[in-house]
Amino acid sequence: MLRRRKKIKIGLLSGGGDAPGINAVLRSIVRKAIQDYGYEIVGVKDGWRGLVEGEFIPLDLKSLVGLLPKGGSILGTSRTNPFKSEDGAECILKNVSEHDIGAIIAIGGEDTLGVASKLYEMGLPVVGVPKTIDNDLVGTDYTFGFQTAVSIACEALDRLHTTAESHHRVIILEVMGRYTGWIALEAGIAGGADAILIPERPFDIDEVCECIRRRQKRGRNFSIIVAAEGAKPKGGEEIVYSSGVDAFGHARLGGVGYYIGKEIEKRFENIDTRAVVLGHLQRGGSPNAFDRVLATRFGIAAIDLVHEGRFGQMVAIQGNVMVSVPLKDVIGKRKTVDLKLYEIGATFFG
Ligand code: F6P
Repeated sequence: MLRRRKKIKIGLLSGGGDAPGINAVLRSIVRKAIQDYGYEIVGVKDGWRGLVEGEFIPLDLKSLVGLLPKGGSILGTSRTNPFKSEDGAECILKNVSEHDIGAIIAIGGEDTLGVASKLYEMGLPVVGVPKTIDNDLVGTDYTFGFQTAVSIACEALDRLHTTAESHHRVIILEVMGRYTGWIALEAGIAGGADAILIPERPFDIDEVCECIRRRQKRGRNFSIIVAAEGAKPKGGEEIVYSSGVDAFGHARLGGVGYYIGKEIEKRFENIDTRAVVLGHLQRGGSPNAFDRVLATRFGIAAIDLVHEGRFGQMVAIQGNVMVSVPLKDVIGKRKTVDLKLYEIGATFFG
């Protein structure tokens, strides 16, 4: 009698900060995995934490209803770093083996994929999907979530323009992006910012004030400045919201918008400034159409890699072509902004 072959089980997890499009990736993987490859899929709760502690959520075709436009992650997420505890990595390998999981697909940014890469070296069959609104991962032109964050920041800039103009104010919009200025730069260009401050180009506050003065000379008595949360003054440090670091050693950035506003007020007799911190509005809610398509393509590419047994890889988009790059070539690096794009933005400063 023929024995039925056991179904291969694949575990999916999302780690780090959420990004619009995680659920669209899950939908895409689960659909293709079950429909075309006959795999069994299990979700891991809250990123690496769920794999350390063995917490799973069954996923089937019915779990996919309504997922494409849904923000957040139905699996939950965390910034758990299993290498911070003595036996975190061992617990993961044990849980994977005890639950008969044949492969893991990790959806995350540099921290989550850094863990994936180390676990791969320890024998875990894993594939990565690049997720972060910061767009700072090397090896891929885009991470999903980024374009949605840019659209939200651009809409905020359009709204700030009308109120800044009516009140003759300088408004500073502080956006996320951690140590890179991708969101600030693209939103700033799209939203017609009068100055864009990014971590890659430490700013001189007097030059920022010059932009405002140039506009005043042209009769433009309001200005809009976009500041990446990681922007810092020349010779200075990033401004942090609170002391302490997370499990991956990151400080919580925030406050540069207020700092810039106060410095501008010190340098002008009659300028009223306001700072707006866009914060997690950039991450919450539905992915835009671009990110839904990108997330869908990443999901299909990831399950295809698993099916081909090509582990230790991250799916990526390069020039609109889906490719894969070794995780080890991605981690420990940072994709900083294209300075040619910055020069385009700078053409419109002041
Ligand atoms: O990496 C994504 C990101 O949104 C950064 O832009 C930001 O600095 C950070 O996460 C905020 O993290 P948290 O959600 O823990 O406040």
